[in-house]
Amino acid sequence: MVFFGGSGDLVTRKLLPSLYQCHKNNLLVGQGGIHCLGLEDYSQTEFVNFAREKARQFISGGEWDDAVWASFSRWLAYDRLDATQPEGYGVLQERLSRTLAEVNVFYLSTASFLFAPICENLARAGLIGANARVVLEKPMGHDLASSNAIAEAVSRYFLENQIYRIDHYLGKESVQNLIALRFGNTLFEPLWRREWIRNVQITIAEEVGIGTRSGFYDQAGALRDMVQNHLLQLLCFVAMEPPSSLKSSAVRDEKLKVLESLVEFSREDVYAKTVRGQYRPGISGGQPVGGYLEENDIPADSKTETFVAIKAEIANWRWAGVPFYLRTGKRMPERLAEIVINFRDVPHPIFPMTNGNTAHARLEIRLQPDEYIRLYFNAKPPGDTMELQQVYLDLNFAEKFKIRRPEGGYERLLLDVIRGNQALFVRQDEQEQAWRWVEPILNTWAADSTGPKTYTAGTWGPSAASALLSKDGFCWHEEE
Ligand code: BG6
Repeated sequence: MVFFGGSGDLVTRKLLPSLYQCHKNNLLVGQGGIHCLGLEDYSQTEFVNFAREKARQFISGGEWDDAVWASFSRWLAYDRLDATQPEGYGVLQERLSRTLAEVNVFYLSTASFLFAPICENLARAGLIGANARVVLEKPMGHDLASSNAIAEAVSRYFLENQIYRIDHYLGKESVQNLIALRFGNTLFEPLWRREWIRNVQITIAEEVGIGTRSGFYDQAGALRDMVQNHLLQLLCFVAMEPPSSLKSSAVRDEKLKVLESLVEFSREDVYAKTVRGQYRPGISGGQPVGGYLEENDIPADSKTETFVAIKAEIANWRWAGVPFYLRTGKRMPERLAEIVINFRDVPHPIFPMTNGNTAHARLEIRLQPDEYIRLYFNAKPPGDTMELQQVYLDLNFAEKFKIRRPEGGYERLLLDVIRGNQALFVRQDEQEQAWRWVEPILNTWAADSTGPKTYTAGTWGPSAASALLSKDGFCWHEEE
């Protein structure tokens, strides 16, 4: 496995720790090597020490084992490489000379404008064997045209069945559990449609700000960073029809149909159905924090959004008229990813409720930080009362399955690349369709000089995000 961007944040914080976990759980077998390529001038020992320090920070205490790291690190190699310079690839030819006939995975953890030159240089160096695979990190490009141009360039060197477009949310246990819940049970299927569901809310909230990624983030913004990929993929898993099998093509065909059924936004729709926000100073994690414009290297007049809320609709028989509210932001009150399915009210309420409201049933699928599924419904408390109370059935995965649950998503996906299973990766037509859907939003925002609304760091975004739902007679579920 070869990591371009091999000394970067993603590789050292997430990917190497994930491979360490796979190794610790005896999931990496046979021979192989992990080659990290980067611009820094590390010696082999310096790199291994650096990778160790990083891994220690990001692997929780109980999971760390010096001996396991020592045996894992024997696989690690580091070389300095400017990926744009073809002559540098000789070093890789030497490293891979023994394994060219085997599965070689090229993981491009770099900005996407480097994907084409890297593939071209790999091809020139004769490194793309029949068993080569390439993993592409998101976001691919910055709009539909640039994404297509990159896709076209990569496809000159790799076939679609060799290309793994990674979206780490699909590797999360809880997302796969959503497929199990929907398609491994008959219970929910009859209810999983417009007749019974009033709205769906999908939230990925982060407590952190943009950290040290200002260069990337100010160019990208939350729509490209989170909505075009993670949120739309989650929406696909909620909304897709049952696939005929778990084969990659069957799953991806169904996801594509959802993306194709998303109602396109006109300019007016963008104003009516989207909200963009940018955090101003506030309190986060009990500490005062600066606003987005005070972050290092962010231009004082930046209009980049750090928060997005969107009302999406799906034009098909199952979902027509059911709003899917999508929301993501930095500097929210807590780190939380969840899908909430709100069921309709009973047609004719006959019970009084203790809080004076009729409560509708809802299914909460919490993806992180905890992983649980809770089904809320009404029950009668003991005593001479018919005032109902809302209660829930709770499936907490950590309590139920007392075995280690891989965190983050990368472990599963790295193993899937090695095994050649593409079901949890994004196909080019999905990628394209997702860009096509977000593009009118990007364009309308770019042409609108008013910029994002501000929100105080540590809150749930601008008030317009609440208004987006209240216009429809709904509210975000934490506001209920
Ligand atoms: C990444 C985004 O794809 O996902 C980051 O680029 C974001 O901005 C991250 O912080 C969130 O992932 P997770 O798994 O920590 O929720």
